[in-house]
Amino acid sequence: MYVGGRLTPHRLTPARVVDGLEADFGKHAGFRRNHAKGVSVSGSFSSNGAGVALSKAAVFERDRQTPVIGRFSLSGGVPDVSDAPMATRGLGLRFDLPGDEQWRTAMINLPAFPDRTPRGFHERNRAFRTDPGTGKPDPAKTAAFLKRHPETALAMRIAQAHPPTSGFADSTFNGLNTFHFTNDSGRTVPVRWSLAPLQPVRLAAEGAANGRDALFEGLINALEAGPLRWRLVLVIGRPADPVNDATVPWPESRRKIDAGTLTIGSARTEASGNARDINFDPTVVPPGITPSDDPLLSARSAVYAQSFARRTSESKSKSAVDVTRLRND
Ligand code: HEM
Repeated sequence: MYVGGRLTPHRLTPARVVDGLEADFGKHAGFRRNHAKGVSVSGSFSSNGAGVALSKAAVFERDRQTPVIGRFSLSGGVPDVSDAPMATRGLGLRFDLPGDEQWRTAMINLPAFPDRTPRGFHERNRAFRTDPGTGKPDPAKTAAFLKRHPETALAMRIAQAHPPTSGFADSTFNGLNTFHFTNDSGRTVPVRWSLAPLQPVRLAAEGAANGRDALFEGLINALEAGPLRWRLVLVIGRPADPVNDATVPWPESRRKIDAGTLTIGSARTEASGNARDINFDPTVVPPGITPSDDPLLSARSAVYAQSFARRTSESKSKSAVDVTRLRND
């Protein structure tokens, strides 16, 4: 009874967070309870050796090519949601390192996360739930939430100052949570990371024609034309920078190291054996990287596991992002 949370009705368990997502977005059997719409991709990471100064993880060794499987996604629990330019874009990656080591990360295109704590995440989703009558969130509920959570209001203002780019290929993806990197000499520093696109960046044109799968169609057809590339940028925190609050971006002036290039070469419709069946738990990291005590990190690990357990025990239906259908001949 205790583990099930029945003696502690107000305790926020991973199951309650996932129940909340199902209540917000509907229950869609077989799909992720957040970032439900997505496509599997594969490629590799080519390290230039600069990351060795920060971390002993093999992925940063000079000239190492690491195979990567990934998943581009849109936030929210609706697997066939329409591709709005403003929807938060996600990229999950799994780097397969020697000796069964792995580095998994899930990043988004926002410059700051809206919530400081898992409870904030849970309650924000309730407050911003679409009202079936109006098709929009209830302004009284969103205003009351933002009053109680000034950190969310601030993170949203920061996000508004970074309008979305034209698609997945020219998006910057940010890890947002802080990790500790330890190098061969035992020196440890706080690090956040981003993937910066090497494709030319264009802002999403306002009012542009927006087909139901426009963002995924753009990605799939860009990959048909050739590989897409991002630089992996490691940002080193200073002692004053928060390591347990993803709502607060670190100052732009922080030292950055370009650790190498991620190349994504092909996309596949979600299916057995590809990224569909991966849990991009951000606490799965190789020696040389350690999760910080940011409360979001441990919560993400537990909640992703709960979502993964539910969706892998359910029957599957076809992904809305069908690579063959969306490919322009
Ligand atoms: C307490 C805070 C958070 C909660 C409760 C949460 C919840 C979830 C859940 C339930 C999933 C689906 C997992 C699965 O079934 O595999 C998911 C996926 C994802 N989340 Fe979060 N999330 C949180 C914070 C974040 C943050 C801070 C980021 C990025 C910096 C993020 C990025 C993503 C991405 C990119 C995916 C899709 C990964 C994939 O393709 O499998 N989330 N999240």
